[in-house]
Amino acid sequence: MRTQQTLAGVVLGIALFSAGLSNAFAADETLRSLAEKNNIYIGAILNSQWFGGGLPGQYEQIHKTQFNIVVAENEMKFDATEPSEGRFNYGNGDKMVKYAKANGMRVRGHALAWHSQVPGWVDQKYGKNKKELLRVLKNHIDNVVGHWKGQVDEWDVVNEAISNNEPQWRGYSVWYQGIGPEFIDSAFVWAHAADPNAELCYNDYNLEQGISPKAKAGFLLEQVKRWVANGIPIHCVGSQTHVEDTTTDKHFIGSPDSLRALAKELAKLNIKLKITELDIGFKSGINVSKSDLERQGKTFREYLDIILEEPNADTYLIWGVSDKWSWLGGLNRQKGLIYDDNLNPKPAFDSILVRLQNFEPPQDTAKKDTVVADTSKKDTTVKDTTVKDTTTAIAKSAGPGSVSMYVAGHTLFIAGANSAKVDVFDMQGRPVFSAKNVKGSIDLKDVSEGLYMVRVRDGSANLTKRIAIK
Ligand code: XIL
Repeated sequence: MRTQQTLAGVVLGIALFSAGLSNAFAADETLRSLAEKNNIYIGAILNSQWFGGGLPGQYEQIHKTQFNIVVAENEMKFDATEPSEGRFNYGNGDKMVKYAKANGMRVRGHALAWHSQVPGWVDQKYGKNKKELLRVLKNHIDNVVGHWKGQVDEWDVVNEAISNNEPQWRGYSVWYQGIGPEFIDSAFVWAHAADPNAELCYNDYNLEQGISPKAKAGFLLEQVKRWVANGIPIHCVGSQTHVEDTTTDKHFIGSPDSLRALAKELAKLNIKLKITELDIGFKSGINVSKSDLERQGKTFREYLDIILEEPNADTYLIWGVSDKWSWLGGLNRQKGLIYDDNLNPKPAFDSILVRLQNFEPPQDTAKKDTVVADTSKKDTTVKDTTVKDTTTAIAKSAGPGSVSMYVAGHTLFIAGANSAKVDVFDMQGRPVFSAKNVKGSIDLKDVSEGLYMVRVRDGSANLTKRIAIK
């Protein structure tokens, strides 16, 4: 790994030099350290082979060095966690949670209510029996979410409930057929009751294909509006983003611009967008050239831009590490990930890395690290005064006047304040912590891991900033 990283560093260093870019390549920079500097999560699944110990050590080394969020490829699905009724199997999921904890990673749970990978007993015993299916689904969610309460940070509560071709619910689902579309609303309510602090997502594919009422994302938007209006506890939409390189599939209609349009619509509803299962494959059987791989890298970068630039987007998760272990073969696609068969980084890896290095939040929108100037002063411009700190993976920010703050682990340090009022809000704007008369630092150990907005007020200073608690 070390050798490989160094080699990648040299190659990239030369590429950057010849491209005339000013940023020097630091050999110890990883996707993870750069993502943390930009306050986003970057991740990859743990492939099913990892759980059985069937992957080379280098795989895990890459995984924990490069990524800060993880999800199980199959191991938290219904058939894996409740293979027979009422007998829960948490072994593999526990293994991943332990690994995530040991390596300071955020955990996604995937997936609670889905039509696929449901064990046979559900349909055989209770097919079309609404009352029983409601009981079975609730019991599953209560147990699974309850088991990992406080450990799984976010759940795909409902996966792939919308039909592919028409704007309507998916018909072939044991849950839809037996219960009707209200299984969706109920699943969110039950998941929230089982872990009120978990972020809850609706997850689906083909959401990068436009937001017109005829497109899947357009239909979804109408449902999200209804859920929000009805107080259904939904916090995020996961876009799987299994896409194909446009030159090998002329009919492929998805684009990063379309997904960005969805992010913007969701922002109006105070809902986040996450990219949860990204891969950008080529048709199986074709020869993939160097320039194809470079174009693929560019597309990876364009999807990353959404996460970096849209204020309500925070997660970039890839459905695999190496092309050698990928589900894409079954989709008649190949080479859709950022490491090749030999676990060497591909041009897509470099493209993501360089983008993370060079990203500067736009001045006018001052996205993730925002300092709101005190409007009682003359200077009312909104300034982004993010300080790039290359020695630690913490974000720093200096505010108007002399007050500044930064977070290390779960301690919030405040400089230049005599007696500050500190308020912490979750990303849905709900207050989660508050303290008065703070000077120097305050321990936020009672605030669970995740992203928050923190506001510090002292006299006329008023500083607001997005922080990550680890
Ligand atoms: C896939 C896994 O990668 C495969 O190993 C498994 O055989 C089928 O499921 N959308 C999802 C994921 O939500 O759970 C799917 O994962 C890929 C498509």
